[in-house]
Amino acid sequence: MSRILLSSALDGIRLSIHVLAATIWVGGQLSLAGMVPALRNAGEGVTNVAARAFAKLSWPAYAILVLTGLWNVATFKMNQTTTAWKIVLGVKLVVVALSGLAAYIHTKAKTPAQNAIWGSISGTTAAASLILGVFLAG
Ligand code: HEM
Repeated sequence: MSRILLSSALDGIRLSIHVLAATIWVGGQLSLAGMVPALRNAGEGVTNVAARAFAKLSWPAYAILVLTGLWNVATFKMNQTTTAWKIVLGVKLVVVALSGLAAYIHTKAKTPAQNAIWGSISGTTAAASLILGVFLAG
């Protein structure tokens, strides 16, 4: 039986940055969504102020996710990964792109219905990206 080893320092740094950025992109969206009723009650425009402040954190986090995601992929020898792993990676890339696109459209929404639809698609696909990432990490 092979023994379970610690990650190397560089692997630890790479994955920690990736996961920290995921906490902001994914956890931030879910937390903000949960706070919307309270923000609405706090006064007109308060939700928008919070959403704009969050965007200043979430978009840099998304950029860091893409950059560290590419770094993650670069550490795998593709000919040693299984077909299932490659398929999950491919699905993850589509879901990650959808999450960014939905978040962008959400910021441009003109009606409350558009806002709710694109916001929930963004949050759901963000959470799905996280789950697929956990499977990729094995
Ligand atoms: C919304 C964007 C993303 C989220 C929320 C996300 C989330 C995660 C999470 C939570 C992990 C698991 C870490 C662990 O269990 O230790 C992970 C791993 C991984 N992610 Fe992402 N990720 C995102 C974007 C990307 C992108 C754009 C790529 C590729 C270009 C990518 C490639 C990977 C790979 C290859 C792993 C496995 C890393 C390893 O085991 O060394 N991710 N991701």
